[in-house]
Amino acid sequence: MYKLDQSKTPFFDKLKTYGTSGTTSLDVPGHKLGSIDTEFKKFLGENVFLLDANAPRGLDNLSKPKGVLKEAQALYADAFGSDHAFFLINGTSQGIMTMIMTVCRAKEKIIIPRNVHKSAINGLILSGAMPIFLKPKMDKDLGIANGIDIEELKETIKEHPDAKAVFVINPTYFGVASNLKEIVELAHANNMVVLVDEAHGAHFRFHESLPLSAMEAGADMSACSIHKTVGSLTQSSVLLVKGDRVDLNRVQSTLNILQSTSPSSLLMASLDTSRSYMALHGREKLDEVIKLTRWAREEINKIPGLKAITKEYIVENGDYNYDETKIMVKVSDLGLTGFDCYNILSEESNIQMELAETNLILAVLSIGTTKAHLEKFIEGLRKLTKHKKENTIIHQIRFTYPESYSRPREAYHAPKKFVKIEEALNEVAAENIMVYPPGIPLVIPGEIINEDILDDLRFYKEQGSTILSDSQDGLIRVVDKENWMKYEGDL
Ligand SMILES: Cc1ncc(COP(=O)(O)O)c(C=O)c1O
Repeated sequence: MYKLDQSKTPFFDKLKTYGTSGTTSLDVPGHKLGSIDTEFKKFLGENVFLLDANAPRGLDNLSKPKGVLKEAQALYADAFGSDHAFFLINGTSQGIMTMIMTVCRAKEKIIIPRNVHKSAINGLILSGAMPIFLKPKMDKDLGIANGIDIEELKETIKEHPDAKAVFVINPTYFGVASNLKEIVELAHANNMVVLVDEAHGAHFRFHESLPLSAMEAGADMSACSIHKTVGSLTQSSVLLVKGDRVDLNRVQSTLNILQSTSPSSLLMASLDTSRSYMALHGREKLDEVIKLTRWAREEINKIPGLKAITKEYIVENGDYNYDETKIMVKVSDLGLTGFDCYNILSEESNIQMELAETNLILAVLSIGTTKAHLEKFIEGLRKLTKHKKENTIIHQIRFTYPESYSRPREAYHAPKKFVKIEEALNEVAAENIMVYPPGIPLVIPGEIINEDILDDLRFYKEQGSTILSDSQDGLIRVVDKENWMKYEGDL
């Protein structure tokens, strides 16, 4: 299956040799290979610091890899079925911004679902691209936004034949995958490149019963959070490129704009070793996990008031495919919100869920998940049902996506003022406002704030969710329309 020897970990090996070589460090970082006895070092031990090197001789340079990093990235491309791979030390967020900035210049169009992560919106601000939003399919019962509607995509491509790219989420945070192969064929037939957010799908490549990975589907670029589902350290991801529609020099120079000149060697070594482990053992380990998830769903569905979502449910509801390594549990039939259950599971059973939404909670599993973890989860869910409430009405998020007034970049650069969130009706937002997780903005720069958004924000606040914006709590930055100047031609 692989052309290269996937047992190799060239960057990690070289780093280990350097860290244990007794080198006198007169370079940065200042901890000098662990020579300062902080409590942190005492807890972690010396090895972590021995491997936290900056850019010593022989360890290559991430902004222009020629040695062991080049070799490590080639092993990634081989394992993930791409032609090229680039390490990301600022997460898939960096990869998503890079993809958009690589293919779109200011005012060029990109077709993109509205339920994207904030990093895609930030990519629009940085590039100046003009988003042509697709409304995702909705599941009103679960209260979530799902995949792309192919008919809507076809219409949008017809209306905007000059768009440069189609952006796809594979899968959504909740695990729903669109028909990526068909999307790729449609986009390529219309001279558009396909950019894929695979923050939650880095493991797809390694098991045939998971949805198709972006590279297998023939997409041009994909950003994968290796840290989320494969097991490397948090913040480490990879950007994959296939075919010849993308300018590789522009990819590297955009990455170099967005990344630190001091990339963490720990993150890169963890990328190197996770890839090797996944390539050698991924299929077998995923097989075990997928079997466990099927068993766990059956057990959860025996608990009155709870519903664990199955692949069959997702497909019957009109979506294309589902990543079974996510377990979504609908809890609202207990008269509780997902936010209530998220807190109860943490306080009562010491279980940390990935996220809560109004009607559900989400567990994200990986090759690190064991049967004992899932037994504890099922037991925690049984205890949770004792909190059932009768006759409660749960606020339902409406997902009426706001109307656009300007490109995100214009609103970002426009003159601004601060207003109280509850007084922001009909104002044009100048910043993203979102609940985190999942980090999907309710409103983005350039959109008109409507009554539904304000209602939803009130509800999220009551639930104690973390509401993120760049402004101080309770305020939002909006465009100062009286002093509104459009930077037409300049941005
Ligand atoms: C759908 C989606 N895309 C992109 C990202 C960004 O990934 P990262 O955290 O690796 O920067 C996230 C993070 O939660 C996400 O949920």
